Amino acid sequence: MGEVAIFEWLNGKLRWLNTLKLPLEEEFIESGDPERVARAIETMEIRGAPAIGVAAAFGVALAALSSKAKSVAELRRDVLRAIERFKRTRPTAVNLFWALKRMESVAMKEYGSLSSAKEALVGEALRIFKEDLDTNLRISEFGKSLINDGDTVLTHCNAGALATAGYGTALGVIRSAWREGKKIKVIATETRPVLQGARLTVWELVKEGIPVTLITDSMVGYVMSRGLVDKVVVGADRILLTGHVINKIGTYTIAVIASKHDVPLYVAAPTSTIDSITSVNEVVIEERDPNEVRYVLGKLLITVPSVNVMNPAFDITPPDLVTAIITEKGIARKPFSGTLPKLLR
Ligand code: MRU
Repeated sequence: MGEVAIFEWLNGKLRWLNTLKLPLEEEFIESGDPERVARAIETMEIRGAPAIGVAAAFGVALAALSSKAKSVAELRRDVLRAIERFKRTRPTAVNLFWALKRMESVAMKEYGSLSSAKEALVGEALRIFKEDLDTNLRISEFGKSLINDGDTVLTHCNAGALATAGYGTALGVIRSAWREGKKIKVIATETRPVLQGARLTVWELVKEGIPVTLITDSMVGYVMSRGLVDKVVVGADRILLTGHVINKIGTYTIAVIASKHDVPLYVAAPTSTIDSITSVNEVVIEERDPNEVRYVLGKLLITVPSVNVMNPAFDITPPDLVTAIITEKGIARKPFSGTLPKLLR
């Protein structure tokens, strides 16, 4: 197996791979402190929609285990405080809020003892973790049928094992097609400014032995106009019932160019990424530190330090530019406002 596992639950501690250090260093961090896990999400040591949901669930479990509460009611207060803290880490990926909601409903149950309440919270975090892995395998089983032998697939950002509990969503589809024997090639975009494509996707694909070519984000139009891309497969941070896909900044640009060149664009994501409540105008797009743009990876200044900067971390691709959405429950096609609610049922 070529893929990595970024989380390990150590009964009272969480161990995670610091993706900020990749591909130069494989640094694992271990902590029993929920605040340290919250900071790992904010600074993007842990990133990717399903992975931050899993991390937040483990963080809440750590808050329960480290609580000094003397009663179940006090423990519940501590846990709910931790949930509020994790809600403030990153605003866009809905999986975070989905996982926290699951932890909250476990916290709100009645328990006869502190230890049974703590055990239930740890159990739920472990279930969220295991379910995500299983979900990705199912997404990939459905998705691999869309990839043909000999295809060149373009992907953006990192929707791999490093963004999930394991295996990956978009990279899971690519991985499964490859493992089935399809001779595919991948074009990975570098994904400015945090470079998840160059640092993480390339690292994962090289580990798996899948041929990969790295391009800068601005080369997408060129490669598509030269007929070098057969399909686009990306992940998602939030999918609305209308089929609007919120994903890494640059996805919308890729979708427009793919549509211009009749290249199908597939979105691979678990149903926990589907937000059935929010409307497109209400979606909060995270605006990150301007220094991520002024500096390359916090080190090399590439502009006038005082320049005004925009740094939205995500964009919104409208449904008409999306060919299909691959979930663990099946593949949804247009009109998404009819097919997505059916999948959720
Ligand atoms: O800012 P990031 O790195 O957390 O953004 C990640 C993405 O946009 C991924 O494409 C998305 O979360 C899907 S991960 C399976």
